[in-house]
Amino acid sequence: MGKAPVRVLITGAAGQIGYSLAIQVSRGTMLGPEQPIILHLLDIPPAAQSLDGVKMELIDAALPLVHGVLATTDVEEACKDVAIAVMVGGFPRKAGMERKDVMSKNVSIYKSQAAALEKHAAKGVKVLVVANPANTNALILRENAPSIPPENITALTRLDHNRALGQVAERLGVHVSGVRNVIIWGNHSSTQFPDVAHGTAGGRPIPDALRDEAWLRGDFVSTVQQRGAAIIKMRGMSSALSAASSACDHVRNWVLGTEPGTWVSMGVISDGSYGAPKDVIFSFPVKCEGGRWEIVQGLSIDEYAAGKIKVTGDELVEEKELALQCLAGE
Ligand code: NAD
Ligand code: LMR
Repeated sequence: MGKAPVRVLITGAAGQIGYSLAIQVSRGTMLGPEQPIILHLLDIPPAAQSLDGVKMELIDAALPLVHGVLATTDVEEACKDVAIAVMVGGFPRKAGMERKDVMSKNVSIYKSQAAALEKHAAKGVKVLVVANPANTNALILRENAPSIPPENITALTRLDHNRALGQVAERLGVHVSGVRNVIIWGNHSSTQFPDVAHGTAGGRPIPDALRDEAWLRGDFVSTVQQRGAAIIKMRGMSSALSAASSACDHVRNWVLGTEPGTWVSMGVISDGSYGAPKDVIFSFPVKCEGGRWEIVQGLSIDEYAAGKIKVTGDELVEEKELALQCLAGE
């Protein structure tokens, strides 16, 4: 007998990431080629027609893994029995805006959707927040959904992780699959710290393979930190296919596990490891097994890295305070 379908919620499903994500999830990129799914697509009433169009296209694609598509503008209906919730809905950053500029618009959405998830989602629901400010939206969701275990609420920094892999591969002229174990520390923002000190390329430590510390501490870091803004400048819209692809990577590794000897970056609730502030959603190196993530421990952190971790941690604490102020002023 085949596997039972898993219900996957995509919020903001009529938007540009949603459009790319829906097809990637439907073709097994997120949960594997053997896992049937029922898609729950949520958007807001002004986008209802476009959302119905996405549903029509999914029917037209005759997708073997898809056992149903619910397209709705009712958040309670959308959250019913979902085992995976990918929270993309929100207001995207436009040219010239920092991610925290979209804060007040988005944190109130995450507060109200937390309540719907808590009430209606399947027990053990795994939540990935993509919408910016992703770490802080995830934190607000967590604070307003106390019955969902904190470890089940995560934020997307896998796109930054993949960007770091891509930059190293381009610089070395090697295939990206040979580059491993980079780390994104902290916030999905321009303060994030992309760190290659423990990474390898073709089995060699990246710093030895590159022998270019000036690049690694300079352009590499700023390119990854600013890549989202660079894509917005080029496309006039924020990244979508890479964001959707990385969201699939995040959930796939979380559910199906990471490869032995390899870690990935995920925004998870901080326990204070590596000097990060506690009780914010902080990106760490994690290994996953049996549907659970665990922060990789015991990595050496030099003074340079500790300084960078402090900067991004301070920003997350500041964002948390700002988000709570926004919600208090509602
Ligand atoms: P988009 O504007 O194309 O789509 C957003 C969709 O969300 C729209 O269809 C909108 O109607 C919908 N929406 C708004 N409020 C909603 C609500 N309350 N409930 C459900 N849906 C709602 O934007 P996009 O380009 O798809 O980006 C979506 C989000 O993802 C943005 O916040 C963007 O900044 C963020 N993003 C994050 C990453 C990351 O790596 N974490 C990468 C790229 C984009
Ligand atoms: C990205 O990193 O591409 C997104 O977070 C979009 C943005 O606002 O930068």
